[in-house]
Amino acid sequence: MQLGVCYYPEHWPEDMWRDDARRMAEAGIARVRIGEFAWSRIEPEQGIHDWSWLDRAIDVLHEAGLKIILGTPTATPPKWLCDTMPDMFAVDADGRPRGFGSRRHYCFSHLGYRAEAARITCAMADRYGEHPAVVMWQTDNEYGCHHTVHSFSDSARTAFRHWLANRYGSVAALNTAWGNVFWSMEYRSFDEIELPNLTVTEANPAHWLAFRRFSSDQVISFDKMQIDILRERSHGRDIMHNAMGFFPDYDHHDLGKQLDVVMWDSYPLGFLEMFKFSDAEKHEYARQGHPDIAAFHHDLYRGCGKDGRWGVIEQQPGPVNWARHNPAPLPGMVRLWTLEAMAHGAELVSYFRWRQAPFAQEQMHAGLLRPDSEAAPGLGEAKQASADISAIGDIGTPVKEAALVFSYDAEWVTATQPQGEGLSALWAAFHSYTALRKLGLNVDIVPPGAPLAGYGLVVLPCLPVVPECLVSQLKDFPGQIIIGPRSGSKTEDLSIPPQLAPGTLAQIFPAKVMRSESLRPGTEHPGDGFTIRHWLDHLETPAEAELVSDDGTAACWKQGNVRYCTGWPEGALIENIVARAADDAGLATMALPEGMRVRKTSARTFVFNYLAAQQDIPSEIRGAPTIGERCLGPAAFAVFNTD
Ligand code: GAL
Repeated sequence: MQLGVCYYPEHWPEDMWRDDARRMAEAGIARVRIGEFAWSRIEPEQGIHDWSWLDRAIDVLHEAGLKIILGTPTATPPKWLCDTMPDMFAVDADGRPRGFGSRRHYCFSHLGYRAEAARITCAMADRYGEHPAVVMWQTDNEYGCHHTVHSFSDSARTAFRHWLANRYGSVAALNTAWGNVFWSMEYRSFDEIELPNLTVTEANPAHWLAFRRFSSDQVISFDKMQIDILRERSHGRDIMHNAMGFFPDYDHHDLGKQLDVVMWDSYPLGFLEMFKFSDAEKHEYARQGHPDIAAFHHDLYRGCGKDGRWGVIEQQPGPVNWARHNPAPLPGMVRLWTLEAMAHGAELVSYFRWRQAPFAQEQMHAGLLRPDSEAAPGLGEAKQASADISAIGDIGTPVKEAALVFSYDAEWVTATQPQGEGLSALWAAFHSYTALRKLGLNVDIVPPGAPLAGYGLVVLPCLPVVPECLVSQLKDFPGQIIIGPRSGSKTEDLSIPPQLAPGTLAQIFPAKVMRSESLRPGTEHPGDGFTIRHWLDHLETPAEAELVSDDGTAACWKQGNVRYCTGWPEGALIENIVARAADDAGLATMALPEGMRVRKTSARTFVFNYLAAQQDIPSEIRGAPTIGERCLGPAAFAVFNTD
């Protein structure tokens, strides 16, 4: 694994560049990402390019022995460009166009903007595609950031109609698939179909699901347009894009198929603060991040990348500026996050950013250097991490234990039709992941249809639409299987299947879901060591009720190697079920102390302590660590040779 940093030469006087490059190399940094927001400096006026500064910046970095990841600048179309086509702005769900003055203001469906994005990508690739220092490209920056996947513009409407015509063939087929006889919603031609915003009450959920799928495809085709240009003009260079945390608005499995590497932007403290964690968790982990935030995304994006190639292109180095509260990480956390990415198989961890900018939107966001160029705490930790990486050496191959099946489409179904406030397939996956990780298990998060050979346990936390290929795979799967609620409950176009839930999954688990209900807070079914919360599937099944709540409600059914979890898969309920299944699968588990996590590869076993307190490593992990101690302080880690 290499270390990298995100750098903005255009933010600094040129006479600082050489020293910056020298200090980067000295800190053990091998790769520098540049360029992704620099359009107004590369092309200050339409058709007038100024490459000279970027030529010199690339040369300075190159001379210091650094390799470059070059970003296409399409996330920040400059003012002159927007002025030439004022309808290129994305439009929000209330029908308001996004304005100029920050970033990501374009609409993915605007053909004029696509042409401009292609033009600047060609120009950059022609200029730097064969430069010896340029080893990788980043397309755009964080597709969808600031809620920009879904645009309700005229261009989007036109493109959506084409997309629908392509998918359904005839408007009659669409009417049937969506059930448009309901409320007299039938269309006579594709040209009559609007975007699903601005309806009086909710639009047909099939309409929304189609719009979500369409919007994702627009992101993928926008990206593909850039990839085709880069592949033609920059031979042998890898192409990646930077994904975000807890962000399901486009299908990252689709994106990963066309990239060489999937990277992501890891801001554990910002994510803890901004996403659905309890106050207790926010308090406990304020300076560390919840112990599964980074690892969940490492394992998710590894499963999105072609050949499993992935990395962290932006690593939080200190306080960020964009969360509700922005604390500093505990001393040691930057080093720990870096090593944890290594343990999960990253090929790069790159810090965001080199030096804190004293101006503009992110002036309160830490870098490895302070604005006055003195070292910020992150720099020392990056240096330590660099030494650790060399000391650890080859980590071998990951140990396969549990596969967790997640699809973006599943999340779009639950987002479109939550049925109970906040219920989300993505979060069902996260909580199931936590349950597995608390037992010390390695987890691969995979799309439906990914090979399942070698796993002891497969978990489908919540998969409303089940592709046929997955059913056939599960029929032959020799290990243990857990099916979560709502799985198999919908057809491809978001109707209830004729045989009712779990639909085709009944081929591996004989059951019919007679009724589903969501449970308001306080309406719960406690049992011995678990509680049914948020959701309840009532099953008719010959299976055995393995977990039954105090009032006689089945929480888990079991038949053969398959279990069905009737309540929402989180907390003690899914922990209980996962522990039983892991046991039946013969997987070696351990009861890890609060906030401690383990990652095993053929050569090394890594242990991370996310708790702000000292804790002992459990006895199941034997021997003396080669790095760290058996008693881990706050934000500390240890590395063992795997026996
Ligand atoms: C990311 C983004 C960066 C920077 C960073 C700040 O979302 O890609 O450009 O804004 O956040 O944390």
